[in-house]
Amino acid sequence: MPRMPVESTEILAPAARVQGRLEVPGDKSVSHRYALLAALATGTSRFIGFSRGADPSSTLACLRQLGVTVRETDAGGSRAVEVDGRGWLGLTAPTGVLDAGNSGTTMRLLAGVLAAHPFTATLTGDASLRRRPMGRIIEPLARMGARFDAPGGRPPLTVTGGPLTAIDYQTPVPSAQVKSAVLLAGLHAEGRTLIVEAAPTRDHTERALGAFGAAVQYGPGWATIERGGPLRGLTARIPGDPSAAACWAVAAAALPGSEVEIVGVGLNPTRLAFLDVLSRAGAVVETEADALEAGEPIGRIRVAHRRLAPVTIGPEEVPGLIDELPVLAALATHGGAVAVTGASELRVKESDRITALVTGLRALGADAEERPDGFVVRGHGRLRGGQADAAGDHRLAMALAIAALGADTASAITGAGAVDVSYPGFFAALRSVCA
Ligand code: S3P
Repeated sequence: MPRMPVESTEILAPAARVQGRLEVPGDKSVSHRYALLAALATGTSRFIGFSRGADPSSTLACLRQLGVTVRETDAGGSRAVEVDGRGWLGLTAPTGVLDAGNSGTTMRLLAGVLAAHPFTATLTGDASLRRRPMGRIIEPLARMGARFDAPGGRPPLTVTGGPLTAIDYQTPVPSAQVKSAVLLAGLHAEGRTLIVEAAPTRDHTERALGAFGAAVQYGPGWATIERGGPLRGLTARIPGDPSAAACWAVAAAALPGSEVEIVGVGLNPTRLAFLDVLSRAGAVVETEADALEAGEPIGRIRVAHRRLAPVTIGPEEVPGLIDELPVLAALATHGGAVAVTGASELRVKESDRITALVTGLRALGADAEERPDGFVVRGHGRLRGGQADAAGDHRLAMALAIAALGADTASAITGAGAVDVSYPGFFAALRSVCA
């Protein structure tokens, strides 16, 4: 099982501006979904550009323990993954406890798959994942017929699967992971499962189910799935991860004289709300799609700096920005201001992303304030620089690094190795765009 070297420290020099054209790693969310659906399909699936992050690697490791053959090769610097599908309900009882590492997506989506399989499996993870709430998937999956044991609603999570019945389900928290767990269980449930979301979230599962041949229908905030026959294997290129691209987009928006272009990146509209925030903050933003791959648009994003203006982000926008809020907080350390409300969900991510983010930004000299359900960051001149801790959280390591670019002195980010969860090579890419 891959383990992240969270102890490492990165020293970052300030940058005058960022410039260049770059690619970002394969999308983490899409990589998980393709691996899981490929395992249930008939035939071999092939993916180019599969995320090298530790989280999708945790999904592959769990699938191997469930009897799935996975081959990995290097295709011209890109990670190519082949999965031999086990077919309809074809996973086998695991050889031991399944370790999802740091990955909430692995645990919650795999629980949806295992809910239908007639055996008992236990999923656990690292200290961060063992603190995260699982009641949100246990409730609907138990209503469908699976049995669970999770002390205090937290991992380790033991699931005993069996015949499932479709449900109509309204999510109390907007979460693509909850929606996906229910849809993956619904794929195997008697009848038609309907899920209605408290607010629309990323729709990669719906698009992927369609590409693998499942009977899925969806629109913003709802989806239905009917029990189908076996899925068919898929060959696809995985788009670059928009959440990784957001780091470069924010850096370009933040530093005067900057312009970056990110190519080969996913342009799924349910992931691009951060570009709207950057436009409101004053940046020049352009996107252009040049391919459609298994239902996912792929293309380029260009962002250039203009003087920063204050922005407010309300509860209705939060589900579409959930992974980008830390780096958008970093934007405001360079000028303008970012005020966020309705984002208490950030407290149950890989870290408490409100407390840890505000603590980290303040350690670099920022004017940052914690709110119960969000934060306010105001930019007044340059940061002092300092030593900030990523709290074992990949998104915080990246956000603190982008803030540090605008400091008066070099800064140290401790626990910076956490970037490997979604973006191995992040610091090399950062140095390559800094001028
Ligand atoms: C993800 C959904 C989001 C996100 C996570 C990945 C996914 O979590 O924060 O990084 O791939 O479905 P929630 O569904 O809990 O909001």
